[in-house]
Amino acid sequence: MIIAVDGPTASGKGTISKQLAKHFALPFLDTGLLYRAVGWTLRQQGGDADDAAAALAACVFDGALLDNPALRSEVVGGLASRVSVHPEVRRALDKRQKDFAHQPAGAVLDGRDIGTVIAPDADVKLFVTASSEARAVRRFEEMKRRGEPANFDDILADILKRDERDQNRATAPLKPAADADLLDTTDLTIDAAIQQAIALVNAKTSSRRDKDPA
Ligand code: DC
Repeated sequence: MIIAVDGPTASGKGTISKQLAKHFALPFLDTGLLYRAVGWTLRQQGGDADDAAAALAACVFDGALLDNPALRSEVVGGLASRVSVHPEVRRALDKRQKDFAHQPAGAVLDGRDIGTVIAPDADVKLFVTASSEARAVRRFEEMKRRGEPANFDDILADILKRDERDQNRATAPLKPAADADLLDTTDLTIDAAIQQAIALVNAKTSSRRDKDPA
């Protein structure tokens, strides 16, 4: 079974995807980390995120980098969003994601274009959203917990900028697949969101079994 989870930053899609992978015993890939690794590598190389050739050169990185906690920072997230607009970068990361999605064991992938580009054949597609204010509150609290300096207005502005860029890029923009189930987590606790996601996967797979009994 392939489960595709897409959605904007801080919507809860990362936590939900990890828990889905655990619940259904499936391998998990956070595809945002690949773009973050490109952004981080580009910064190390002193390149400009808006320069497609420099961003493409940064697509060659050691796999161990994906475990580096530095990739999780807001700065690297912003760089990831900027390098991800280049079709060259998306193409360079495409095969790795498609191979992961289509491994025999099945998979859960989270990102922006999993249901639309990487695995349009996914068995289940979830599009996880939340209001920009709710997402900014979550990000603010997360940063405070980590002891990082956090300013709510700056975080909200950054989220809006990132949404705008991710939704309006020409190649593989952030949008729900036509057959995706929407999960709005604005007023949900993370536990309730996880339970709803599990229920959506179960509903989708059982309705498919009813239509297509073995
Ligand atoms: O999910 P994240 O915040 O780690 O993603 C960081 C950026 O990477 C995001 O703003 C856009 C880009 N990205 C993408 O374009 N496609 C994906 N499948 C995943 C992430």
